[in-house]
Amino acid sequence: MTSIAVIGCGYVGAVSAACFAELGHTVHCIDTDPSRVALLQQGSSPIHEPGLEELLQRGIEAGRLTFAATYPDVFDARIVFIAVNTPEAQEGAADIRAVRDAVSTVAARLRTGSIIVNKSTVPIGTGDLVAGMAERAGCRSIAVVSNPEFLREGSAIRDFMEPDRVVLGSDDRDAMDRVAALYAPLNPVVQRVDIRTAEMIKYASNAFLATKISFINEIASICETLGADVEEVARGMGMDTRIGGQFLKAGLGWGGSCFPKDVKALAHMAAVHGAHPQLLRSVMDINHDQRLRAVQKVRQALGDLEGRHVTVLGAAFKANTDDLRNSPAIELANLLHLEGAHVTVVDPVVPAARLLALAPHATFALDAVEAAAGADAVVLATDWPEFRALPWHAIAAHMERALLVDTRNYLDPATMRAAGFEYRCMGRPGAEGAAASELIEA
Ligand code: UDX
Ligand code: UDX
Repeated sequence: MTSIAVIGCGYVGAVSAACFAELGHTVHCIDTDPSRVALLQQGSSPIHEPGLEELLQRGIEAGRLTFAATYPDVFDARIVFIAVNTPEAQEGAADIRAVRDAVSTVAARLRTGSIIVNKSTVPIGTGDLVAGMAERAGCRSIAVVSNPEFLREGSAIRDFMEPDRVVLGSDDRDAMDRVAALYAPLNPVVQRVDIRTAEMIKYASNAFLATKISFINEIASICETLGADVEEVARGMGMDTRIGGQFLKAGLGWGGSCFPKDVKALAHMAAVHGAHPQLLRSVMDINHDQRLRAVQKVRQALGDLEGRHVTVLGAAFKANTDDLRNSPAIELANLLHLEGAHVTVVDPVVPAARLLALAPHATFALDAVEAAAGADAVVLATDWPEFRALPWHAIAAHMERALLVDTRNYLDPATMRAAGFEYRCMGRPGAEGAAASELIEA
């Protein structure tokens, strides 16, 4: 088993470190945020990720997982993963300052023959830049490998442990073999390519998944106009193995820490180098419009939203995470506020303070039943399983107007109508409150 280091203990770094420790490797983690390190040292996860705390605690107890807020003078580990954040900068470019900082600090502390493995999503060409930085720092015989991550928040541990593929990019075959060996217990398919191609695989994968979602959202609005059911359309399409059924769920559009910044960064890179990324631009436009379409559904039912009380169910960008970065639910809450509504947001795991920092005019609530009492509308914005199990009859009975806008097509229309709701959704018959047959006749 191998000794490795992981720089950056966020969503990707913490999960990767805990999983590598679970595979039997010794993992030394460094994060510049001391409060995050203090939590991790106790086996507490700074993020809501199912199963992560168990792995952290097992790794720590076995002596295979350690955390520090400062860099060692010299790295014992010969393989160092960079997993710091690469947020959106101006004009949509990726901000790689944290990668530069980490690499410049790491490079001066590496032994000859070490490998820098980049897990952060970085613009194409960053691997070469990292190699140049290491060389300028005086490193001898250092290899740089790109090893993009494909972890979904909420199922990150399963995604790590059961990868569809492990992508490795480098011009150093021996270095790629040494990194591939870390994953050997998982027996994965390993694709070895050059470093730029590996960096591009990550962007192209995320952009394609975002395209699939925007495609089905466009189909949803066409279904709505023509009286077809987008859920069945997606099911029928997905059974064709050439298309595949995943990422065809129509709804509020994609959000989170990756798709928005990665699609933008890819479009930005293309444009800067003279290409014309028109498909990517449409994919982003459609996504933006989905939020507006959801607000429009509330407005269509209630008329003017000034002074109306609207309860938004969900703050996170999807279920099983407490991540609020680019959350469509937050955008929706803020748009409703802009139209004059009093907005209350309910989320089972997101702390009130973090929500209020992003939606300062909203009220935070934990109890959906209480939050919806007297409301003019409930809008389901995150597909938390908890929301399916709510006492919907009681909620409908205590609302001022029992309007339910299900922006994720998550609830069963017949059950919700039977519970007393005026139920609206995205791209299914009755989405606008009219039956499909009426739409067709019209
Ligand atoms: C990761 C990536 O690596 C990003 O490129 C990818 O697109 C998405 O996943 P993520 O894990 O979501 O980012 O980032 P975040 O949760 O913000 O964590 C980054 C961690 O790095 C933080 O704990 C931060 O304190 C730490 N960090 C940041 C350092 O340790 N050093 C730095 O110089 C900067
Ligand atoms: C994504 C990628 O899937 C992962 O491979 C990458 O490494 C990081 O970015 P993540 O952001 O955690 O993962 O979430 P994901 O499950 O991909 O969902 C992204 C967004 O798309 C969410 O807002 C989700 O609600 C939305 N979505 C997803 C849909 O609207 N419809 C779908 O069919 C699937």
